[in-house]
Amino acid sequence: MQNFSKIIISWYQKNKRELPWRNTKNPYYIWLSEIILQQTRVEQGLPYYIKFVQKYPTVKYLAKATEDEVLRLWQGLGYYSRARNLHYTAQQIVLHYHSKFPTSYHELIQLKGVGTYTAAAIASFSVNEKKAVVDGNVYRVLSRYFGIEEDISNTQTQKKFQQLANELLNKTDAGKHNQALMEFGALQCVPKKPCCEVCPLNLTCFANLHQKVTLLPIKTKKTKISKRYFNYFVLITNNNKTYIQKREKNDIWAGLYEFPLLESKRLLSKKELLDSDFLRKLTEGKSVDIQSIGQYRKHQLTHQSIFYRFIEVKFPSGTNVKNLLNVLWEDLDKYPKPIIMQRFFLKCINL
Ligand code: ADE
Repeated sequence: MQNFSKIIISWYQKNKRELPWRNTKNPYYIWLSEIILQQTRVEQGLPYYIKFVQKYPTVKYLAKATEDEVLRLWQGLGYYSRARNLHYTAQQIVLHYHSKFPTSYHELIQLKGVGTYTAAAIASFSVNEKKAVVDGNVYRVLSRYFGIEEDISNTQTQKKFQQLANELLNKTDAGKHNQALMEFGALQCVPKKPCCEVCPLNLTCFANLHQKVTLLPIKTKKTKISKRYFNYFVLITNNNKTYIQKREKNDIWAGLYEFPLLESKRLLSKKELLDSDFLRKLTEGKSVDIQSIGQYRKHQLTHQSIFYRFIEVKFPSGTNVKNLLNVLWEDLDKYPKPIIMQRFFLKCINL
């Protein structure tokens, strides 16, 4: 057991990536990096971490920002509830912790957006608290090395992994042990085609010895993917403005802005679009001039396939539009938007 940690840490010293959040004990920076890196690869998250640290050098700056600003900076990273929780939690820290970011596991775990993994990561990286991290990387390394052939979707199995990770934890250097184990999973014990020939644990690794590397970890629950159809109406007015709305809570992209949306359960024909109650209501029944109907494109999320398209409509002047924001095209850039909206917008202004 002790040897396991020693080998992993020694591998880490030789192979680790230089990453900015590894050169700090500041729990605020560590928290930022961990929230950004949830469900996100390091290469994708790194530029966002740099932008956030620059714009919000302390938790006070982050708390003072508006939610729109934080979401705008987060734009493109996905899983936007992370950004909303980040902002909310920053405000809680200012209110209840006198702007001093907590470092103990039991305080961290109470923060919105911070689960067992993130609390253990921040507490161990910042003050070496003896808490073992268990994330996807850790499941993979431990299931392969120790030959745990149980379903990681199962809560009982997850508990078993947590227990094993606690036992393996290097009690004198918990932070480094945790970083090392995760880095080992990210670089050496990778999901597909790991190079076991150069692995320092290959002689004692169960999966390597039993040709089960590609079979572990075992995860039976497949993610169910649903299909959604988004028909966006781009309203073109004669004063260089358009209309947008803010997405509601409890759905993807909550808090982001988008063009008026007709969502449907299947593809809609041109006739269905033109005859829709949605368009009738939007234009108060006036006849409209459809300038273009874009092709459906696909945007893949973890649990949803979004088929989306843009319909450009010359908007009758004098129409009374309820519940929509009337914005100048050039101001649209300031609003946080789903990436499919941002791409469309950039294409429009480049024309
Ligand atoms: N993924 C999540 N946390 C990380 C960290 N601290 N370093 C590298 N990758 C990570």
